[in-house]
Amino acid sequence: MTALTLSTAAVPGLRADAIVIGVAKGSAAKPAGPVVAPGAEAVDQAYDGRLAGVLETLGASGAEGEVTKLPAPAGFKAPLVVAVGLGAQPEKDSGYDAEALRKAAGVAARALAGTKKAAFALPLADAADAGAVAEGVLLGAYSFDAYKENGGSAENGKNGKGPLAEAALLGGKPRDKAYKAAVARATAVAEELNRARDLINTPPNDLDPEAFAAIAQAAAKEHGIKVQVLDEKALTKGGYGGILGVGAGSASGPRLVKLSYTSSKAKKHLALVGKGITYDSGGISLKPAGHNETMKCDMSGAAAVFAAVVAAARLGLEVNVTGWLALAENMPSGSATRPGDVLRMFSGKTVEVLNTDAEGRLVLADALWAASQEKPDAIVDVATLTGAMVLALGNRTFGIMANDDAFRSAVHEAAEEAGEPAWQMPLPEHLRKGMDSATADIANMGERMGGGLVAGLFLREFVGEGITWAHIDIAGPAFNESGPFGYTPKGGTGSAVRTLVRLAERAAAGDLS
Ligand code: BES
Ligand code: MN
Ligand code: ZN
Repeated sequence: MTALTLSTAAVPGLRADAIVIGVAKGSAAKPAGPVVAPGAEAVDQAYDGRLAGVLETLGASGAEGEVTKLPAPAGFKAPLVVAVGLGAQPEKDSGYDAEALRKAAGVAARALAGTKKAAFALPLADAADAGAVAEGVLLGAYSFDAYKENGGSAENGKNGKGPLAEAALLGGKPRDKAYKAAVARATAVAEELNRARDLINTPPNDLDPEAFAAIAQAAAKEHGIKVQVLDEKALTKGGYGGILGVGAGSASGPRLVKLSYTSSKAKKHLALVGKGITYDSGGISLKPAGHNETMKCDMSGAAAVFAAVVAAARLGLEVNVTGWLALAENMPSGSATRPGDVLRMFSGKTVEVLNTDAEGRLVLADALWAASQEKPDAIVDVATLTGAMVLALGNRTFGIMANDDAFRSAVHEAAEEAGEPAWQMPLPEHLRKGMDSATADIANMGERMGGGLVAGLFLREFVGEGITWAHIDIAGPAFNESGPFGYTPKGGTGSAVRTLVRLAERAAAGDLS
């Protein structure tokens, strides 16, 4: 991954392949074209104060996502200046918002793929801004080329572009505790988030439940996290009928992974549950062609939970965080669960499986009940659960449901603080009866309308009495099928990781609602 440092180097003499500066849209008051953002003063001076005009001549407007490359002025050691759009100029006296900085840094880092070293001279008003730029650089520079024969970085002898190797953040305070902490936090979160992206992007023939569990085990060991893996035998012994039922059709058996990060100073216990379907074919209720090509992403919830627990450990947060990864492959075969089968779940409830493609709620049900046994202060599950949520909120926003209004708002706030688009959704009681089953306690399908909320209502049945719970449906934002934008690449995005880390931080501060 890109190496990141805080630097006080002066720009003209700085040895780098490029200097990144910010450019904003002129305000309505003076519609004078693009405005050079703070941080780029030395660069502007070298252009005799005419940089804004030069940028305008080149067609720059300062719009978000815009990249303008220009040769560096005489006397500069770096050959290239990259001006990246920050969008609207902030109101007087308020700085650029963290998300604008994150996005701009991400766009610039991606535009510099294949470059060795870039210096970022973006507007940093405080340590939090330095953290945002660091996060944007590390997330935006991400690329997945493990499977490209000629991809990868020039360094390892391959001829693809490879990510930006080194980034220096200028204008920060390398000796200031707050700045150092902000960059360290951004580095830990971004590294774990990028690891989640790698897991999501890994083809399903190489990442089955066993392989995922082994990766979680190794990472847990490295970071002092307690780990327990239930294999098929242990799941059978324990009565995990939901996870076993979903995994029954696959040649690769299911797993339930429990990751326990504990802090001696913890006052709260947060449990995180992730849907980890390493491939969702739909099972006997097979998905048609056109709907299964990206279903390697159906373990994105488990990847997010895994990343968040490891990040919490690396940050030494003063909170106990337990992660539950419900891992299975949903395949059709002679041993697969059929529509019409009844499963006896870990909670003791029976579920009539009417559609084997509604498998996520079955594995989550067992993991939610397992998590509930420890009576945590709150449980949050994350899942690529329903196509209905994608229809409702689109490809970039996740939906939040909960059995507690204040907690649902807290999760939404955490998402906003992290820079993740999110929206609160209801759990309308009248939709529950659609899941009544003639044979079992409940069916795994209900009304088609409001399908995302129906799934949420199903999950609610498997949360222990009196336990605060929220459900995050990331089916839309988990996997980006179109082009990259901001600091989000094509493919696995790492959706919800940063929200979960923020929630753990809030819990550490004693504040879960
Ligand atoms: N993994 C899918 C949901 C999904 C859809 C994720 C699109 C990402 C993108 C889930 O298991 C599923 O198939 N859900 C069904 C449920 C239905 C059968 C009740 C759906 O949403 O169609
Ligand atoms: Mn499915
Ligand atoms: Zn699924």
